[in-house]
Amino acid sequence: MPKPIHLIVACSENRVIGRNGGLPWSIPEDSRFFQEKTRGQTVIMGARCFAEWPSCVRDRDVVVLSHEPHPLPATVHRATSLTAAIALGQALRGDIYLCGGQRVYEEGLGLGDVLHLTLVHAQIQGGDTFFPDWRAQFPRELSRRESQDANWRYTFLSLGK
Ligand SMILES: NC(=O)c1ccc[n+]([C@@H]2O[C@H](COP(=O)([O-])OP(=O)(O)OC[C@H]3O[C@@H](n4cnc5c(N)ncnc54)[C@H](OP(=O)(O)O)[C@@H]3O)[C@@H](O)[C@H]2O)c1
Repeated sequence: MPKPIHLIVACSENRVIGRNGGLPWSIPEDSRFFQEKTRGQTVIMGARCFAEWPSCVRDRDVVVLSHEPHPLPATVHRATSLTAAIALGQALRGDIYLCGGQRVYEEGLGLGDVLHLTLVHAQIQGGDTFFPDWRAQFPRELSRRESQDANWRYTFLSLGK
């Protein structure tokens, strides 16, 4: 049986996920959530995301999407399409988590079984990477938890099809 496919993302109310090659916010509770959910699992991500988070290899199996021959650590798998990455992931650890960026989410939205969405209650200006509109694909709320820190208010949502 194919493994479950999860999408995991934090996005603002106007669906921004990135700005200038990084996250538009620093939310320690969300970083911890992301780390804990994906620990011991297989993560699939684009080349820029991997460049931002190379330490993910310590506790996870990693498949990086890239057409370019960027040097990658020996334990990291490379694929040139999301379909190939998911096929590779079937033989790796745990469930499959699609971790961005924009194109991975756009192509993966229709393939995912569960969406772990941290909705950051802000309108972010100057964003350059976006999450697609998920509402039609993931109409079912499985769980919800509201939280906040000194700078941001956000909701952890788990959504199903
Ligand atoms: N808020 C969040 O939860 C979250 C999550 C992830 C990322 N982000 C943010 O998003 C930004 C990075 O994302 P990004 O969209 O710019 O870059 P990215 O997806 O990490 O990397 C883009 C590169 O990955 C390869 N690639 C991506 N999708 C592919 C596909 N489907 N098939 C084949 N190759 C593929 C291509 O590499 P080649 O050119 O080498 O072929 C492409 O140039 C950063 O700002 C980051 O902080 C935010």
